Amino acid sequence: RPNSAGINVDIDSEREPFEAEVNAFMDMAWTAAPVINGKSLYSELKESGGVQHKVTAPYDSSVTVGDVIFGDREHVEQAIESSHQAWPLWRETPIATRGNCLNTLADLLESNMAELVALCHKEAGKTIHDAIDEIREAVDFCRYYARQDQVFISQKTRSFDGEPVSFSRQGRGVFVCISPWNFPLAIFLGQVTAALMAGNTVVCKPAQQTSLIAARAASLMKEAGFPDGVFQLVPGTGSEVGHYLTSHPLVAGVAFTGSTQTAMRINQTLAGRQGEPVPFIAETGGQNTMIVDSTALPEQVVRDVLRSAFASAGQRCSALRVLCIQEDIADHIIELISGAMDELVVGLPYLHKTDVGPVIDTAAKEKLGRHINQMKRTQRLIKEVELDACCDNGMFIAPIAFEIAGLSVLEEENFGPILHIVRFNARELPQLVDDINATGYGLTLGIHSRNETTYRWIEKQTKVGNSYINRDQVGAVVGVQPFGGQGLSGTGPKAGGPHYLYRFTQVKYDDTPA
Ligand code: SER
Repeated sequence: RPNSAGINVDIDSEREPFEAEVNAFMDMAWTAAPVINGKSLYSELKESGGVQHKVTAPYDSSVTVGDVIFGDREHVEQAIESSHQAWPLWRETPIATRGNCLNTLADLLESNMAELVALCHKEAGKTIHDAIDEIREAVDFCRYYARQDQVFISQKTRSFDGEPVSFSRQGRGVFVCISPWNFPLAIFLGQVTAALMAGNTVVCKPAQQTSLIAARAASLMKEAGFPDGVFQLVPGTGSEVGHYLTSHPLVAGVAFTGSTQTAMRINQTLAGRQGEPVPFIAETGGQNTMIVDSTALPEQVVRDVLRSAFASAGQRCSALRVLCIQEDIADHIIELISGAMDELVVGLPYLHKTDVGPVIDTAAKEKLGRHINQMKRTQRLIKEVELDACCDNGMFIAPIAFEIAGLSVLEEENFGPILHIVRFNARELPQLVDDINATGYGLTLGIHSRNETTYRWIEKQTKVGNSYINRDQVGAVVGVQPFGGQGLSGTGPKAGGPHYLYRFTQVKYDDTPA
């Protein structure tokens, strides 16, 4: 099957009936708690006085989404034990059966699209375009990894003296999957389905901010036929649940998507724990740049900059952070960007007209606010979009653009709708490329140029995972644009690409004398 088609919400006759379906779920209350051996512990923990954390919508803190009871160290122990027990059977489960579970899950995600979109609006503050794309990407991951069954076909050959030899792959054991809030369904299920398809059992810890979406996904996994015990969910904090999970001696691998700092901490925990050395698959952040030379088409640059920097309120690890414009055309492009920013609609994510929704929570809003204040004090403000009253109760950051002195002004990734602009002259291009490489990050790079020699040269010299030429630099499509960085941006392999499943497996070699 091709990638999930979704719904074209820019066509009124497609959007309106879909919005009506979504609205039917907007008042629902969702819950989350540890799920162990196929059973949600929500009722049990609630009765025994477990703390119910109220979840409110990022766009309006007076709107309740549901509640979550976090797991603790004991749940981590139970979850790992349950996954450990279930592994031998799941490892021997035919690959076709595992693939069928993934494909059934994909179908269920599509048939529950309206509820999942409502939940993405409410818990993650996703706009309607982003929410639909979120479900589509989750569906694509399931179907794509289900199609990767060739990874598990034994390679049969003969040794030099004629003995039959075979290589085969199997799962490694209990995989821990730790997923982020910015793609609460797609990355959550991308990691989990890859690990399961590869014959591992899984314990997953979703980002605290989006536990409800993960819990709903877990219930769909049960419905899809994944046997009890094959995956467990332990919602909770990184410092408690995340730490115990990654310290556990029975863990056979970790897949993590989130900040570079957390990836570094997990790496240290894994190195210091008892037990065997295990694979660590990390996808982290970026200080992503776009280089625009004087041959670029200004209108196209502006369209691609706005999408790359401000779509999803800049909360994509692929998002554009630093736009580098050749000085000859810089004033013109900056003026166009500033004008186009005036057209951005910032507001309630479930309204079709909204381009930019809220950021995820108070901590994110405050951290971004501190960076913006510092930039206002020290750099040149180009444009700050005005917020209207509908944003008063939510975690909104107005899209903003600054001209800055150089890349070295920025110490870390700023995960929100903030665009930094740097000018360069043609002679400084090699230095600019060195500066980009010197950030240590290497996730996405945009290049706008009509000079093939220039863009090929830049593309070769920069240490990044995904380069996009004469287009925007966000929204990698599963199976088409495998996604992942290098350096501080991650270990690879690329998610949604042909090499991903291999890292979740081990190879066995069998040489049988005749
Ligand atoms: N895969 C996403 C994108 O390409 C980022 O996480 O935008």
